[in-house]
Amino acid sequence: ACGEDSGGDGNGGGGDGYVIGFSQVGAESAWRTANSKSVQDAAAADDRITELKFDDGQQDQEKQIAAVRSFINQAVDAIVIAPVVETGWTDVLTEASDAGIPVVLADRGVEAADEDLYVTRLGSDFEAEGRSAGEWAATTFATTPDFKILELTGTTGSAPANDRKAGFFAVLDEKGVAYTLVDSQTGNFTAEEGKATMETFITTHGLDGIQLLYAHNDEMGLGAIQAIEESGKAPGTDIQIIIVDGSKAGFQAGVDGKVNYIVECNPAFGEQLMDVVVDVIEGGSPEKFTPVEEGVFGPDQFEAELPNRQF
Ligand code: AHR
Repeated sequence: ACGEDSGGDGNGGGGDGYVIGFSQVGAESAWRTANSKSVQDAAAADDRITELKFDDGQQDQEKQIAAVRSFINQAVDAIVIAPVVETGWTDVLTEASDAGIPVVLADRGVEAADEDLYVTRLGSDFEAEGRSAGEWAATTFATTPDFKILELTGTTGSAPANDRKAGFFAVLDEKGVAYTLVDSQTGNFTAEEGKATMETFITTHGLDGIQLLYAHNDEMGLGAIQAIEESGKAPGTDIQIIIVDGSKAGFQAGVDGKVNYIVECNPAFGEQLMDVVVDVIEGGSPEKFTPVEEGVFGPDQFEAELPNRQF
């Protein structure tokens, strides 16, 4: 399923399989690297796919839009986009639609106004992930009056940052839990920026009296752990920490007592994605959203689960 043929019996024309263009967000996290590998491996192993044209958007929407335009010019059979942010896609999605090339969203979504410009999204239910984090926080701090929260949000304007925040605070509000969000700033889903933002939190607010850090992904949580340790506090004890993804490094931090709750985000949907894309090329109309399966893990599960982590 690898090759240089233009392929496909649709727009790609010529070869004996389909040509797919994939505009990936970037390589900002272990999750993302695992996701790129899952999609590339699945395409390579799939006889129905002649070629997967892979483009790394480096967390830059302009680069992603340029990649999609290039895929349109190359008349690929289908375009897969993992959109770095939710807004700003209308023009290029309209261009793909005008060219008759179906678009499938992988992982992240776009704003509701663009819903008619893509066929389907396969990925995580980010709001459900946020709600899982919120359920744990509501239970854990049920008897802590007005508990104090710091939030490290993902890339500003991205679907997981928007929805993980919304789901988390919706649960706290629904349950009538008294809390104060002391600060909420982005760490752009990277360890480096997560650490820098945590350092700013510590300088601005200190950590005394703050019970919880909610980090929207493992990398930012792991960066924040370094900042907390460098400030002389004990992550996981002096301040409890929730992370989202469930990488090996994240689970190891849990085993080490530095992380208290892990919400899984599953990157290994490459094979499922190939099935959806081929179905769409061949005229199928799948559900608008297909969630991938995910779990949640507390401290008593970290050690047993660590060997099972794939990324
Ligand atoms: O869109 C999924 C998120 O993107 C993952 O949680 C994060 O690690 C990645 O950067």
